[in-house]
Amino acid sequence: MKFFLDTANLEELKSGARWGIIDGVTTNPSLIAKEGVALEEQIRRICEIIDGDISAEVVAVKADEMLEQGRRLARIHKNVVVKVPLTRDGIRACSILSQEGIRVNVTLCFSAGQALLAAKAGAYFVSPFVGRLDDIGANGMDLIREIVQIYRNYGFNTQVLAASLRNTTHVIEAAKAGAHVGTLPYKVVDALFDHPLTDKGLDQFMKDYARAFQTTSAAI
Ligand code: G3P
Repeated sequence: MKFFLDTANLEELKSGARWGIIDGVTTNPSLIAKEGVALEEQIRRICEIIDGDISAEVVAVKADEMLEQGRRLARIHKNVVVKVPLTRDGIRACSILSQEGIRVNVTLCFSAGQALLAAKAGAYFVSPFVGRLDDIGANGMDLIREIVQIYRNYGFNTQVLAASLRNTTHVIEAAKAGAHVGTLPYKVVDALFDHPLTDKGLDQFMKDYARAFQTTSAAI
């Protein structure tokens, strides 16, 4: 499973990059707006920090505008994946951009039927939103399982990018379901590291060694 960071914050990206486990980045207009830097400039900066797929979302509802913006975004860097919404216009833009060799992430996917449309339009990624389905009382993880199964049935190349993951259980369940990618807020990746028995075990190892040799790590 690839791990993407779901953020446009440069400090979070730099910090995540140091772990050596981040395969890419997803952004959306809300995340870009939070950083206060215009879309193209912020995407350029992100591409300098993370060497992996960087999803950059069009800010448009009409296919023609999506196409124009998508082509411009794709020219920023070879790693840019153009993100479009799962609407009629978005699917049309996805078909055209994909035929031009531009990789597309179809976002705001909330049903298996929508995911079928994205695959048929040649999407590189489809982004089903787990947390937002949970928010309305549905089961977001069921959607990941359905899409993975349907894509397998037909050998679609579109990768399932589990989005709107809010906690570590979401990440593990998405991995069990076979999602190709999980995009995680920084705090969720950070939480994956933690286990009380790891802390307790490490503390014990350090104490036992120091007691036996009455030394500090500086003297090892
Ligand atoms: O990956 C999509 C993500 O940014 C949406 O997450 O938590 O706003 O539903 P959330």
